[in-house]
Amino acid sequence: MKHSKKRKWKARKKQNEQTNQQLTNKKGLPKMLLHVFCILLAMLVQVTSQVASRPNYVLFLADDLGIGDVGCYGNDTLRTPAIDHLAAEGVLLTQHIAAASVCTPSRAAFLTGRYPIRYGMTSTTRLRLFLFAASSGGLPLGEITFAKLLKNHGYATGMIGKWHLGMNCEKANDHCYHPLNHGFDYFYGIPLNNLRDCHIGKGSVFTAGSKQNINNAAPYALGLFFTLLATWLCGVLPIHSRKLLLPTLTLCALLGLLMLFFSQFRNWNCILMENNEIIQQPINFENLTQRIVYQAIRFIERNNDGPFLLYVPFAHVHTAHFAANAFRGSSKHGVYGDSVHELDWAVGEIVNALDRLHLSQNTLVYFSSDQGGHLEEMSPTGAVFGGNNGIYKGGKGMGGFEGGIRVPAILRWPEMLPASRKVDSATSNMDIFSTILTLAGIPLPQDRIIDGKDIFPLLQGETNESQHEFLFHYCSSYLNAVRWSPPNSKSLWKVIYFSPIFQPAGSNACHDTHLCHCFGDFVEQHEPPLVFDLIQDPEECHPLESKDFLTQQRVLDAVSKAVEKHQQSLFPVPSQLSVNNILWKPWLQMCCGALPYCTCDQDKTPPWEGRVL
Ligand SMILES: *[C@@H]1O[C@H](CO)[C@@H](O)[C@H](O)[C@H]1NC(C)=O
Repeated sequence: MKHSKKRKWKARKKQNEQTNQQLTNKKGLPKMLLHVFCILLAMLVQVTSQVASRPNYVLFLADDLGIGDVGCYGNDTLRTPAIDHLAAEGVLLTQHIAAASVCTPSRAAFLTGRYPIRYGMTSTTRLRLFLFAASSGGLPLGEITFAKLLKNHGYATGMIGKWHLGMNCEKANDHCYHPLNHGFDYFYGIPLNNLRDCHIGKGSVFTAGSKQNINNAAPYALGLFFTLLATWLCGVLPIHSRKLLLPTLTLCALLGLLMLFFSQFRNWNCILMENNEIIQQPINFENLTQRIVYQAIRFIERNNDGPFLLYVPFAHVHTAHFAANAFRGSSKHGVYGDSVHELDWAVGEIVNALDRLHLSQNTLVYFSSDQGGHLEEMSPTGAVFGGNNGIYKGGKGMGGFEGGIRVPAILRWPEMLPASRKVDSATSNMDIFSTILTLAGIPLPQDRIIDGKDIFPLLQGETNESQHEFLFHYCSSYLNAVRWSPPNSKSLWKVIYFSPIFQPAGSNACHDTHLCHCFGDFVEQHEPPLVFDLIQDPEECHPLESKDFLTQQRVLDAVSKAVEKHQQSLFPVPSQLSVNNILWKPWLQMCCGALPYCTCDQDKTPPWEGRVL
């Protein structure tokens, strides 16, 4: 019975009202006492009904998975049966928009329900995400994640996977930005990111920006150059000359540190933690997905009397790609496809565990990706390594184009949501915040603007109207584009203020810099801004021409008013992604085992024994 629960709720509410009425009608007891009794009873009924009905949440987030990579979104060569199955039993969103097109800000927006610009998870430089485990920025502690609110209201909250929202503030073990400080009571996963540099022989994210053919040689050349330079400076320079002694020594020390840093990059940045403890350094990607699945299922089993929140942000399908033996060579799309297959398997295993434990009826499952596929990702041999964004233009890192922000998204809750429903109206990844808190009966924070909306009525089919008349698409700190879904209308407009300049010219991405940048000479400003009719032209190929002058003006007017209002709601805050905050700080370096090697392996997750494939 799909709507039995809803009916139960309504019945309960009615019963509740009736009891109250009967009680107030009774004469004889002192009025005061009666009042207190009524209030207590009403509170009790409310609390018990809430406890009985509070759903569990399992939220899956893939990394860099494109909307065109998933079977139920039209891919016919990659196999994603588990994700497709969720869509068959639930609601598929065709216009689910990530609040940012790179990991760090997109995840921050997801967890807080707010645009990253509101709390400094944006920058004005080329660096838009954390690159080192020993950076000092992070998701500000004043921000409230849904995990924190759910935990405060009695939920068990677990996070298993990739965090990427900062770690330490002042000391290597203060863990101020740690998931456990942001509302999770269990954490198993990667504090930073899955980087090429974490895998031996898979190249470097630092040299990926340079031309492909020097990709492999660059680290060695760089190392050789610095070694020669250091030897020359330290040996040849007349350091007996007093004036030069200090600067020479400083330079040598700095170069030495730099060399040490790059030689130890993998050890220092590729870390696996369980709660506050480092359990593997450097992280071993062998069977990592199987370990994530194991820990996720263990968390569900431990908390099956609920309610619980389980957040599973996979390391897949970010480069460097990896997959367990059973998946290697399983796809037609190289190691990228293999990792999509493994991701789908992992989703299936965890959803099966919900079914096995009879939890599916009371669990809302969400599957999405933090942003679109990374078009600049190429293997050293030039094979496509990034995801597919379907018909949409652009990809990860490009603030406004659909390809980077329109992500796959599916929600399943058999008891409360229709099966096989498709929603085409605009939704945001920030909406999950407001939706799951509202469903749990938890009031949204009143002391700040929450940008996410409760989309449950939209999911249930009570409305088809978008809850967002306007959505703002940022490229880091810069407002790049705005989409407008006018109320009571089927139209959908998008205004683009600037576009990235693709390089090499004529390509469809920023291959020379590995990620498009959002400012200065890296972009072309549009004056007047481009206006696209996203219903007619979802590919963003044909901006309205001057013959559509009136429509163009109408859209630009409406959007500029909305932008003005939006900008009035923003206040200056310190940037968590400033160069200073991103820089590697030796005193924040987390390390297990002896410096400088920092190696250990005490992950006790047993080997996967379940069914594979
Ligand atoms: C399916 O995904 C692969 C890998 O991203 C891609 O190469 C292929 O073009 C996609 N197929 C379709 C029909 O979108």
